[in-house]
Amino acid sequence: MSDRAAQAPGEGDEYGFDTRAVRAGFERTQYGEHTEPMFLTSSFVHDSAAHAAAKFAGEAEGFIYSRFGNPTVRLFEERLAALEGAEDCRATASGMSAIMSVLVSLTRAGDHVVCSQGVFGTTIQLFALFARYGIETTYVPLDDPAAWEAAIRPNTKLLFLETPSNPLTEVGDVRALAALARVRGIPLVVDNCFCTPALQRPLELGADIVVHSATKYLDGQGRVIGGAVLGSRKYVAEALQPVVRYCGPTLSAFNAWVLAKGLETLSVRMARHSENALAVARWLEARPEVERVRYPWLESHPQHALARAQQRAGGAVLAFDLKGADDAARKAAAWRVVDACRLLSITANLGDVKSTITHPASTTHSRMPAVARREAGIGEGMLRVAVGLEDPRDVCADLARGLAGQGV
Ligand SMILES: Cc1ncc(COP(=O)(O)O)c(C=O)c1O
Repeated sequence: MSDRAAQAPGEGDEYGFDTRAVRAGFERTQYGEHTEPMFLTSSFVHDSAAHAAAKFAGEAEGFIYSRFGNPTVRLFEERLAALEGAEDCRATASGMSAIMSVLVSLTRAGDHVVCSQGVFGTTIQLFALFARYGIETTYVPLDDPAAWEAAIRPNTKLLFLETPSNPLTEVGDVRALAALARVRGIPLVVDNCFCTPALQRPLELGADIVVHSATKYLDGQGRVIGGAVLGSRKYVAEALQPVVRYCGPTLSAFNAWVLAKGLETLSVRMARHSENALAVARWLEARPEVERVRYPWLESHPQHALARAQQRAGGAVLAFDLKGADDAARKAAAWRVVDACRLLSITANLGDVKSTITHPASTTHSRMPAVARREAGIGEGMLRVAVGLEDPRDVCADLARGLAGQGV
């Protein structure tokens, strides 16, 4: 590392978050480029047979094959690690492959996982798939540390939570669960997708591993699918890297470049997303058709104080429940709001500058058995909005069209 950009900060130095977001991980090549280059190459050449042998033996530094190492992917990994305060990171092809890689890295047949209720629906499907390989999962309420403690068995190998949760925006007490995990010697894994390190840093709160769907706010503009796992140098080298190398859940160099550039604007975007979401949440709270608004930065959120203690702002995602005499009426009311939208995009994805709206019960969480869905609190009248970077007054006006005439 010879030039100023190459001295960009990594973890543990004195540069601020925003400086790390813009500079970390960039090693300028001999061409003196100002913007990070993209290395679209599947393999790397060696100086000699002996050099190749030394690299394969792990005795010499250097990239070998992009399934398990690529300079552009490394740029994204180092930049994200610098933001999360992690010793190391491995990027993955998607958020789901990040969670899968953690499971494969920490468990074997006969092991057990404790997971919070109300996590992303596909995460539940993934854990169900792992039951085939003899790994059982117990679901507990996110906000009940005693239930977590009671669910732990001698063969429990990881505690997994998402905070705030999707779509309920429930908040888990990361410090309390980290303390429990430490006493029991079990790693605590946090899906930090909704907050990103701009708003919440679980490792600083005591968690051991962070996972991301980089598809969401790390990119922030709905362009690529990606994921990441962050943790200690020892965990990454000994447990995670073999999974990346042998299973190949690899992020492409192109997507890594897009994501690394996305990180440069992360804190600016997350601050504005949060401001806009709070404005929309407050507006929804005043609407007579709305039964309840779920957003951690509202004073009415049951874990508002906890959210303020561990997050820097509320994030982009809110959910709200519509009034209705029964499930059928609530579902019809929710679908009317969705169908009346002209600005909000009807898509289950979130983490975009464009606001999106979805009906979780019939989309993201439709594969959950109805009883489990109801128990988790995902009702037929619930809508989730991921508030983007448009003028929030326009987002409210779009929702007002569908809310009007609900017969309240
Ligand atoms: C909280 C959360 N975790 C994980 C994922 C999975 O990420 P991906 O779609 O990148 O695989 C999602 C996707 O929506 C999510 O919302």
